[in-house]
Amino acid sequence: MVVAHRGASGERPEHTLAAYELALQQGADALECDVRLTRDGTLICMHDRKIDRTSSGRGVVSTMTLDDLRAHDYGRWHAEMQGRQRSAVALGDPEIADAAVDRYSEPLSVLTLSELLTLVLDWGTPKTLFIETKHPVRYGALVEAKLIAELQRFGLARKPAGSFPPVVMMSFAPSAVFRVRRSAPALPTVLLGENSRYLGYRPTTTGVPAAIGPSIEMLREHPRVVERARASGRSTYVWTVDEPVDVQLCRDLGVRWIATNFPERTKQLLGG
Ligand code: G3P
Ligand code: CA
Repeated sequence: MVVAHRGASGERPEHTLAAYELALQQGADALECDVRLTRDGTLICMHDRKIDRTSSGRGVVSTMTLDDLRAHDYGRWHAEMQGRQRSAVALGDPEIADAAVDRYSEPLSVLTLSELLTLVLDWGTPKTLFIETKHPVRYGALVEAKLIAELQRFGLARKPAGSFPPVVMMSFAPSAVFRVRRSAPALPTVLLGENSRYLGYRPTTTGVPAAIGPSIEMLREHPRVVERARASGRSTYVWTVDEPVDVQLCRDLGVRWIATNFPERTKQLLGG
């Protein structure tokens, strides 16, 4: 299954409606987003603690209201960045040349989780949304509490009917996964990890995630992690898989969920 990481974020500005719509049009099986809480209590889709990298503005998300955030443009930075990449291409840097893809230069709004859930639920075919809670020091457990409340409002904090859950919660923090398992036991979870400490993790001690989520770098080094997860009845979610050789590795190992910034290309590599 191909998961569009931050939407089709290799081709559109990450965490925007344009990125998610393109991913769905390209046939992604699932979408991934990070969520953060604004000062006035709205969950928005954003990776960084600050808006500086992915908008026309500056500031820390948790100190801004939704209206503050809406005053900025979240689209044009992507084309500007790619413009710089193209200049580097002209200077003959092949690594950066690979990263240069179609420009997107329209202004775009900040995306709330509620808007993204609406997009996913209104899409004609069932899709899964993987929601990763990011942890501002300021709010701690409030992010998970808000997330569960939001999912309950949409009727999504329940046991999935089939093998295709509408929503999965993810975190690098075992404590966050544990809080969700305790408050919304029917919601599938993924414990993310990127270092060797994670390999020693015992699922029975902190919250029994439905799947584990190693990085592709970790998978290359420790491919047996997939087998170990399977042996304990868990599936595997690997991020962020953009290189064909890594897609092949995931396929060979039987990884269930592959998160990528290029869902169309990854789908093609997997045979549609
Ligand atoms: O999908 C998991 C992956 O997104 C975790 O890393 O930093 O991209 O949120 P990050
Ligand atoms: Ca993420």
